[in-house]
Amino acid sequence: MTRGVRAYGDTGKSLEVIAGVGLGDRSRKSRWPARMDFLQSATGLALGLFMWGHMLFVASILVSNDSMWRVTKLFEGYYFFGKSYPGIVSAIVAIVFALFMGHAFLAMRKFPASYRQYRTFLGHRTLMAHTDTTLWWVQVVTGFLLFFLGSAHLYQMLMHPGDIGPYGSGDRVWSGHWWPLYLVLLFCVELHGGVGLYRLAVKWDWFGGDDPDGTRRHLSAFKWGITAFLLVLGLATLAAYMKIGYEHRDRVGEEYVPTWLQEDGRQRGTQ
Ligand code: HEM
Repeated sequence: MTRGVRAYGDTGKSLEVIAGVGLGDRSRKSRWPARMDFLQSATGLALGLFMWGHMLFVASILVSNDSMWRVTKLFEGYYFFGKSYPGIVSAIVAIVFALFMGHAFLAMRKFPASYRQYRTFLGHRTLMAHTDTTLWWVQVVTGFLLFFLGSAHLYQMLMHPGDIGPYGSGDRVWSGHWWPLYLVLLFCVELHGGVGLYRLAVKWDWFGGDDPDGTRRHLSAFKWGITAFLLVLGLATLAAYMKIGYEHRDRVGEEYVPTWLQEDGRQRGTQ
C-alpha cells in the first residue's frame, strides 16, 4: 500500500509530497514530545537551583570584600591546588551556558508562532482569568528577554573568568556600565525562575497531598516569598557592586588584595 500524499509534476509522473508523509498512519505515537517536556523541566530545575546558589555566592559581597574574594578563589581552585585557575570558572560557565541554550531551545517550541496563535492565547487567558495562565505569559516574556541578557552575561563570564572579584566585578558593574543590564536581568531571572520552579512543582505534582488546591495556594505564597527575598538580596548586592565600582573608578583594573595580605605587606614595609 502506498503511504503519504501523491502529487503530479509536469511530466505527469507522481511525486511523494515530503511534508507530513506517513505521519497519519504511523503505528505508534512518538515519545519525543514527552521526552522534550521532561528535558525542559530537568534543565529548568538545574538552572533554577543553580541561580539560588549563584545569588548567594554573588551576595557574599554584602558580608565583606574579603568574603567575596574567598568565594572567587574557591571557584578558581585556589584552596585545592594552592594556585588560582580561572579556567575552572570558564568550564563551569560552559556547562551552565549549554544548559541555558538547551533549555531555551526546548522552551521555544511553546512560544506562540504567529499572530493568530498569540490572539488565541490572549483569548484563553481572558476566558480563564487564572493567575497561573497569566504567569505562563510572564514566563514567555521574561524567557525571551533572557535569551539576550543572559547570553551577554554568560559570554563575559566565559571569556573573562579572571576578572571576577570585589574590584573586578565592581569595576565591570560601574565603570563597564553593566549595571543597567544586571538590573533588568535580575528582575527577569527572579520572576522566570520563581514562576518556573512553582510550575514544575504543580505540573509534576511534587507536593500533591489530599488537598491539591490548598497545596497550590501554599506553593504560590512560597514562590512569591522566595522571589521577593531574592529580588531584595539581588538589588542590595547590585548596589554594593555599584558603590565599590564608583569608589574605585579612578583605579579600574587594580586587583583586590585581601585585608590580611595588605596587613602583611604593611608590616614588611615597616621592618
Ligand atoms: C556559571 C555561570 C555564572 C557565573 C560564573 C556568574 C557570575 C556572576 C558574577 C561574578 C556576578 C557579579 C557581577 C560581575 O562580576 O559582573 C554576577 C551577577 C549577576 N548574574 Fe551571574 N553568573 C553566572 C550565570 C548567571 C546566569 C545564568 C544568570 C541569569 C540568567 C545570571 C544573572 C546574574 C545577575 C542578575 C547578576 C546581578 C547580581 C545581583 O543583582 O545580585 N548569572 N554573576
